[in-house]
Amino acid sequence: MTMPPVNDLSTARLPTDVVGLLEGLCTTRAIRRYSDEPVPPAILRAIVFAATRAPSGSNRQPFRFLVLTDGPKAAEAKALIGRAARGIWSTKAQRDGYARGSGAVADSPKARMARSMQRYVDEFERVPVVVLPCLVRYREPHVTEGASIYPACQNLLLAARALGFGGAITGFQTLVETELRQLLDIPEAVALAATITLGRPEGSHGQVRRRPLNELVYEESWGQPASFAVDPPGTRHTAAGPPTAS
Ligand SMILES: Cc1cc2nc3c(=O)[nH]c(=O)nc-3n(C[C@H](O)[C@H](O)[C@H](O)COP(=O)(O)O)c2cc1C
Repeated sequence: MTMPPVNDLSTARLPTDVVGLLEGLCTTRAIRRYSDEPVPPAILRAIVFAATRAPSGSNRQPFRFLVLTDGPKAAEAKALIGRAARGIWSTKAQRDGYARGSGAVADSPKARMARSMQRYVDEFERVPVVVLPCLVRYREPHVTEGASIYPACQNLLLAARALGFGGAITGFQTLVETELRQLLDIPEAVALAATITLGRPEGSHGQVRRRPLNELVYEESWGQPASFAVDPPGTRHTAAGPPTAS
């Protein structure tokens, strides 16, 4: 989709979705390969607007989004996070045996995943936009506090999908949190919830793959299949995920 240049965002309406809500939701996959095209301000505005429309406890809106594009601090932060990403992936690739078994077969899903991850982390500094979703803490850390930031993260990813862009949510910031706080002046009372990368996808969007619906949805009591939990025709599944209900 080509966006007309928008000079005055205060009068410009939001851009039109390229996809309906349900279809977009079912095709919002983790996008890790981006073209070098910058994300236009009108698109970024729409994405963060959608993110900040998310629900939060008592509508407190404790979410904040630190957006890193092409400024000098953005470059430094991307370099820091890129270093962390490469460390995290290298450890995971070894620990989970990405080069073993079917991973040794060049065209297997495992090998393709490993190549895509390797490229993602190797080229991290070139990601057009990195967003750090943050949570302004207003009480002692609690197991439910993520519920006031992660819906906003998903809105952000859905909005990117709605406009022909794409992203991935990661935990790469965890390894360099102290350095990021210092570089970006992030107060102690603010939690860094994730690292989200955004850009124009190099490939195309596709259906997300999950376990069959009847493994994930119960009715009446734990483990009881729900009569309505039937995947629509053409649903693609994955073997990844939780153990099957027994
Ligand atoms: C809490 C959370 C943490 C994640 N961490 C990472 C990560 O560190 N690196 C990464 O590349 N993807 C990460 N992802 C993306 C998942 O790998 C991805 O959503 C999942 O494999 C399903 O793939 P799909 O979104 O393409 O359907 C994370 C997703 C979530 C929700």
